[in-house]
Amino acid sequence: MSNLTALQVMQDAPVIPVLVISDVAHAVPLAQALVKGGVRMLEVTLRTPQALACIEAIARSVPQAVVGAGTVRTSDDARAAARAGARFAVSPGYTSGVGQACRDAGLALLPGVATSSEIMAAQEDGFNELKFFPAMQAGGAAMLKAWSGPFADVRFCPTGGVTVSNAPELLALSNVVCVGGSWLAPLDALASGDWGRITQLARDTTTLRG
Ligand code: 3PG
Repeated sequence: MSNLTALQVMQDAPVIPVLVISDVAHAVPLAQALVKGGVRMLEVTLRTPQALACIEAIARSVPQAVVGAGTVRTSDDARAAARAGARFAVSPGYTSGVGQACRDAGLALLPGVATSSEIMAAQEDGFNELKFFPAMQAGGAAMLKAWSGPFADVRFCPTGGVTVSNAPELLALSNVVCVGGSWLAPLDALASGDWGRITQLARDTTTLRG
């Protein structure tokens, strides 16, 4: 399987769903429901003890999906995610160690940044496609507009506080390719196995770029 680029991960759909899965049995039906709604790039956060097993299950059983790992904070996280079958990684912040570990493991990385200095550090290591996190808390659309001058070569995926209502304003910005958000997989829908609702939430995002 050839390696993905971060830009390919970002361009596939307007929204990258941020998934927090506590029950491995939910992983495959959740991924299938999202794919059915037109969303293939899936970020499974390494926030639950089951996360790596969930990545493994999706990689094995849902070939139409492209599974990535979120909340990658260390080099070990990156290596474990790659071993489980993740094809991309998303990190809440950036360190050169995580950047190098992702390169070594063949994982496309969307490094998280919230300040100009962090953008400069990521760019120094060759990363120009970045996650803006936590986006709405750290300045939202106004911050992205301010960055478009000095960082005209950087493209962002704002994540954190993004909703179906504020996503269009973000997606309309020239330096935003996609957004990330957890609203496509509400915990109550997972708990009750309401996969139809999740497919509908996914479908509702596919036209958000306008
Ligand atoms: C996260 O890491 O939790 C993501 O940024 C999702 O944030 P959200 O729940 O505000 O969409």
